[in-house]
Order: sequence, then structure tokens, then C-alpha cells
Amino acid sequence: MTQGRFDRLFIGGEWVTPLDGGVRGSIDPSTGQPWTDVAYGGVADIDRAVAAAGAAFEGPWRRMPGWERAALLRRFADLYAAHVEELAQVESRDNGRAIRESRLDVGMHAQYYHWFASLADKLDGRTIPMDASVHAFTSRVPAGVVGTITPWNVPLMAAAWKLGPALAAGCTVVLKPAEQTPASSLALARLFEEAGFPPGVVNVVPGDGPTAGAHLVAHPDVDKIAFTGEGATAKTILKTGADTLKRFSFELGGKAPHIIFADADVDQALNAATGSAWTLCGQSCALGSRVLVERPVYDRVVEEFRRRAARVRVGMPLDPATHMGPQAHAEQLAKTLRYIDIGRDEGAELVTGGGRVDNDGLRDGYFVQPTAFAGVRADMRIAQEEIFGPVAALIPFDGEEEAIAIANGTPYGLTAGLWTGDVGRAHRVAARIEAGMVWVNTYRYIRWSTPYGGMKASGWGRENGIEALDSYLETKTTVISTTGTFPDPYLQ
Ligand code: NAI
Ligand code: MG
Repeated sequence: MTQGRFDRLFIGGEWVTPLDGGVRGSIDPSTGQPWTDVAYGGVADIDRAVAAAGAAFEGPWRRMPGWERAALLRRFADLYAAHVEELAQVESRDNGRAIRESRLDVGMHAQYYHWFASLADKLDGRTIPMDASVHAFTSRVPAGVVGTITPWNVPLMAAAWKLGPALAAGCTVVLKPAEQTPASSLALARLFEEAGFPPGVVNVVPGDGPTAGAHLVAHPDVDKIAFTGEGATAKTILKTGADTLKRFSFELGGKAPHIIFADADVDQALNAATGSAWTLCGQSCALGSRVLVERPVYDRVVEEFRRRAARVRVGMPLDPATHMGPQAHAEQLAKTLRYIDIGRDEGAELVTGGGRVDNDGLRDGYFVQPTAFAGVRADMRIAQEEIFGPVAALIPFDGEEEAIAIANGTPYGLTAGLWTGDVGRAHRVAARIEAGMVWVNTYRYIRWSTPYGGMKASGWGRENGIEALDSYLETKTTVISTTGTFPDPYLQ
């Protein structure tokens, strides 16, 4: 495939034209115009990709020792590191993320692949004492063909978090990126090809959720679905996949509390809280979209949100000076604006922002002002529902108990942050927060080695860390007789 073109699917090691999908323009959200042609697969293309992944699993991949899989993954990781700038540019074109953020994010991904490569030859089991007449042991075997369905906010990161452990575990993969941002996943496919992965181990088929995505989920030859996206989609996926009883792992977003106690270093907390509210234009599941502030410092925090919002440079994604690009697509823009209206109607006080950006040159893109609401009550919809836009809800509280009650008072439980100068309080509060990841006096500190995932409605299973491998492996127990004898049960 020619460098920089995305008009083919990557199936079975070949660049192929869609059978029943088509080629359409992918929209640049900073202009609202298509910027490149992309191949979208349909049901027949998913069938081809699943067949290729199945053949690769039963063929070379299953027989390859872990250290060889590791070597391939390392080669791929090195190629990835050498292509960070290109990958970051493609990602920013497709989803509008400010290039300074994309470079930082994409710049880390090679380490995810390296780290999982280092586990690929360490999938050992246990020897289990039973009694002298048998020898029992466990081995860990790959789940099989994995369908990975990724979102538009962080396509390359979501791919790294799934493909790293899946390939290390010995699974083969069909990657279906989100229809709004497919290009970077096809760029990724080029690197898997160049690294020399056997054909069919990684297949990349952009496609629409309800057709290509649903077919991947329903496919009887797909053993597991690894999904990141909306909770409502996960429920549909569960129903669609129910007949095949495949495995599922879900990362489903959040409404993270970012708790600032009055005894905290409030300046540091503000750096994290404002950054976290507006990073990625608010389109990340980990962001602290609810800022819980202890009453004595509440007015100061509100004022600082107003002051710092004025410093946020909203602009074209590829401009290195830009802090915040547009929303990734028109539907998300509409959703964010709808929630800003809901906040106003609910009686929250608009501190800053509150609308589209109307500057010359940005008018046609999906740009939204960095926004914050004060006087937010914990039961308001803007404090309960995932907006996925640059909209912070600043909620006052009195004391630890109320902070914990508000923090835990949503259906979500993905991440949480808390700021305090009291180490005892840090432990007390962190222990009681219902979230898969809690940060104390820091925020959004995420690495390949630390398990990440949701409690409650935020998901099933963990990505990253050694735990991530579990969801791509089956534990198999083998019991072998040391005598070879078995009594006849009907003799007496
Ligand atoms: P979505 O959950 O519909 O899309 C995510 C992925 O699922 C895409 O690849 C899509 O093609 C696929 N998909 C959609 N319907 C499917 C189906 N029936 N079967 C199989 N795959 C399917 O999310 P959407 O609609 O793009 O965004 C809506 C909201 O979801 C956002 O506003 C945000 O609140 C949340 N979201 C959360 C994310 C997270 O990081 N946890 C990522 C993306 C969205
Ligand atoms: Mg959807």
C-alpha cells in the first residue's frame, strides 16, 4: 500500500478493496471536510478478516514460541517509535486532537508494545499438589480470534492497549476502528506488515458499528470481543454476542470525580483539574469531569477556572501552539452543546465558555470553548452523565463523608483523583472510592504496567498491567495419572 493512502483494507496480509463496504471520505473535524479516502468494510469483509485471523491462529501463530512472538512485537514497537510523528499527524487529522497532545500520547505507545512483548514468553502456569497418583498442572492458552472494537477519541492508544496483550498472549486480531477515525489504524497495519507478522495475525477493517461491528460481535468464529466505547453500545454488543457465548472485555467511560480538599496544594490541584477538564477537548474516559471542591477553597477554584480558560488556545489541530482542537465529529459537537444547554436549564452557573468558537478560520470546524459550570449539584444531569466535551462541573462539598458520597454517587467507577496534604486522609478516602484507578496528588498518570479499567458501569476487566493478559488467555488444567490405572466401578 502506498504510504499515506487509506483506501484499502488489511486482511490476511494483503491490501484489498472492500467487497461490500466502500470507499468514503474521512472528515477533518477542524474543517468539516473530508481529508482522505478511507476503505470501509462490510459484512463480507469482516467474514474474510475473521477467516484470515482463524487460519493464522490455527497455523503459524499458534505454533510460534513465545520468544518469537516477543521478537516480532519488539520489532513492531521499534518501527512504531520511528513513526511517531507520522502516526500522530494522521491521528490529529482524523480526530482533531491538538498535535502537541497527540505527539505525547503516541510517543508513549511503543513502550506498551515493548512491555507486552516482554511478557509473551513468560506465560507460565502452576504445578498443583493433589496426591501421589496424579500430577496436575495449569497452562495458559490464548483465547483465540479477538475482535477489537475501538473508539474515535484515542484510536491508536486503544489499539495499543488491546493488541499489545492480545498478541503477547498468542491471539490473532481483527481490529475494527471507529467509523469517524479509521485512518490511523490502517497506518498501524502498515507497520505490522513491515515488522513481518505472519499474514492474518493482525487484520484491520474500518467499518460502521451497526453493520461491520455487529457482524464481528455475532461471528461464531470470534472468541472474544475487546471493546472501548459507550455503555449503551456494550449492552447491545452483549445481546448481539450472547448466542455465541464469547468472552467480552469492556472499557466504558466514566464521570470521574476530581476531589480538592482545602488542605491540598490548591495550585497544583488546579493545574491538574483544569488540564483534565479540557485535555482532548474533554473526550477521554479518564478525565476529571466532576471537580469536587471543599467549600473553603471553592470560590478560589471557580475563579481560577475562569481565569485559566482564557489562556487555553483553541485552534487548528496541527498548529503546535494549539492547546485544544475541535470535537472529533459533528455528533459529538451536538451532544456537548446539548449538555451545555441542559446545564443552563438545570440552573448551574456558567463560569466560562458555553458555546462554539466563532473565530475566523475555526467557524466551520467542531470547536467548542473550554467550559465550566459552578454551583453544580451532584444530582444534576451534567454531574451524572458522560458529556465527553470540554465541560467541567464544579461541585462544592463539606467534609470527607460528603466528598465520598458525591464521588460514588454515579453509575460509573473508572477513575478518580483526590488532592490533600493529609496522608491519612489520602488513604481513607482512596480506599472508599469506587473506581478502578485512584490518583492522589496527581492525575491521569497511566502506564502500560498499571491495570486500568472500570468498576460498576465503567466496564468489565482490566487493560494494561499483567492483568490485561488474563482476558486474552484461558487457564487450562491438566491432570495426569502417574500409575495409569483406573478401578472398574462395576466390579462389585
Ligand atoms: P460507540 O460506543 O457507539 O462507538 C465505539 C465503537 O463501537 C466504534 O468503533 C463503533 O463503530 C462501535 N460500535 C457502535 N455500535 C456497534 C454495534 N452495534 N456493534 C459493534 N460495534 C459497534 O460510541 P459513540 O457513539 O461513538 O460515542 C457516544 C458516547 O460514548 C460518547 O459521547 C462518549 O460519552 C462515549 N464514549 C466513550 C469512550 C471511552 O473512552 N470509554 C470512547 C468513545 C465514546
Ligand atoms: Mg454509538
